Amino acid sequence: MASLTIRKLEDDLKHRLRLRAARHGRSVEDEVRTILREVAEPASESAPSRTPADKTKPPRATASAPGVARVLLIVGGGIAAYKSLDLIRRLKERGKDRNLAVRVVLTKAAQEFVTPLSAGAIAGEAAFTDLFDPAGEFDVGHIRLARECDLIVVAPATADLMAKLAGGHANDLATAVLLATDKKILLAPAMNPQMWSNKATQRNLAQLKADGIAVIGPNEGEMAEAGERGLGRMAEPLEIAAAVEAMLKPQTGMLAGKRVLITSGPTHAPIDPVRYIANRSSGKQGHAIAAAAAAAGAEVVLVQGPVNLPDPPGVKVVKVQTARDMLAAVEAALPTDVAIFAAAVADWRMAEPQRQKIKKSGGKAPELPLAENPDILVSVARRKSKRPTLVIGFAAETENVTRNARTKLAAKGCDWILANDVSPQTGIMGGDRNTIQFVTATDAQSWPPQSKDDVAKMLIARIAAALAGVKS
Ligand code: C5P
Repeated sequence: MASLTIRKLEDDLKHRLRLRAARHGRSVEDEVRTILREVAEPASESAPSRTPADKTKPPRATASAPGVARVLLIVGGGIAAYKSLDLIRRLKERGKDRNLAVRVVLTKAAQEFVTPLSAGAIAGEAAFTDLFDPAGEFDVGHIRLARECDLIVVAPATADLMAKLAGGHANDLATAVLLATDKKILLAPAMNPQMWSNKATQRNLAQLKADGIAVIGPNEGEMAEAGERGLGRMAEPLEIAAAVEAMLKPQTGMLAGKRVLITSGPTHAPIDPVRYIANRSSGKQGHAIAAAAAAAGAEVVLVQGPVNLPDPPGVKVVKVQTARDMLAAVEAALPTDVAIFAAAVADWRMAEPQRQKIKKSGGKAPELPLAENPDILVSVARRKSKRPTLVIGFAAETENVTRNARTKLAAKGCDWILANDVSPQTGIMGGDRNTIQFVTATDAQSWPPQSKDDVAKMLIARIAAALAGVKS
């Protein structure tokens, strides 16, 4: 049997192997074993690309995975950067229970103090360094970095980074991410006491606080420069990790402690291996509701058909293709307090999807016998056990919206229906705005035309009031 010595491989290959191993959080030896196993195993077995020991464990959390708390750590270029490696470790340690993932961005100056390799190895995912890296294996772009996280921590936040952030500069990856984000930001300043007390720094600090940015430290103590002490030491990694934990805790929102299930998007019903039956649902309304429920403190499960939307933050996302898979995922998510069915589920599927691509044959169109899909909303609304307290449906109509919604409410056995006119001229299907007729057993209201985000907020407020026993 031939033997392989990693040390003897070419430098470039070794370098790439190290990066790949760091990205997967594996040793280089394990990474090589995994690659060899993938090559040796039949396709179906090699797909998970995990070692046998790994197979008994859940996959490592990465900063883009759904259902995890995600921190993006931006390391600035100061002597305190050496503590950032410890900070990554502390964050992961304290965040174990919530499956916390840490992604790292290093500024150019930070790389004078820590290497992308060491930061990536501890984080379990390669560190990011460049704003423009179109050829880079790990280039995901500053917009995705800014969005695919729940919180951004800047540690150490140098005087220069604070000034750039206060002034809205975006001339490197770190500042571009900070400018592009809508997430919470925590700064851990670290600098020489003179620089900290400088009027410009204090002006920037006041501006950043006024912009809603949280700040921890600096602490008083010994400086790196011999004989200097004062206010300017970066807060200790444990203090920063505790602040992160507090900031990630779900807010005590109006749906705190409630579990909410939402279906969203279309479903696909395969005809043959390349064709399927689908519809024009974008999933925007369902996703907006999931995001609003999570922002209101609910534990949210979003069962989504094929959509082209990012996962809403703080939401557990289950991705499905067919109506029957959606039903199974919905049933697996029960019990919940609320279930909202915003998906446009295909009414029919092929009775028997063809295993091979259907060929044209002599000008005769193929017969495509259909079978009815399960009605997911009905099956949940009519459950004897584990029926959610509130079961809410949507009705996409092209005429007689309110009348049809009333009929649907009774036929489906749900508590509320949000009906909308999806005639092409309304632009509702796939658009960003919606006009809802809100129908209950005793009431019908016209909600004003508004964004799908605002519809979501209005619905969540109404749900919270109903669960609290307030009559609407
Ligand atoms: O029957 P129709 O498709 O108009 O009903 C719309 C409502 O029923 C929506 O809330 C939709 O999510 C839900 N539905 C479902 N399963 C189906 C069909 C519709 O959950 N198979």
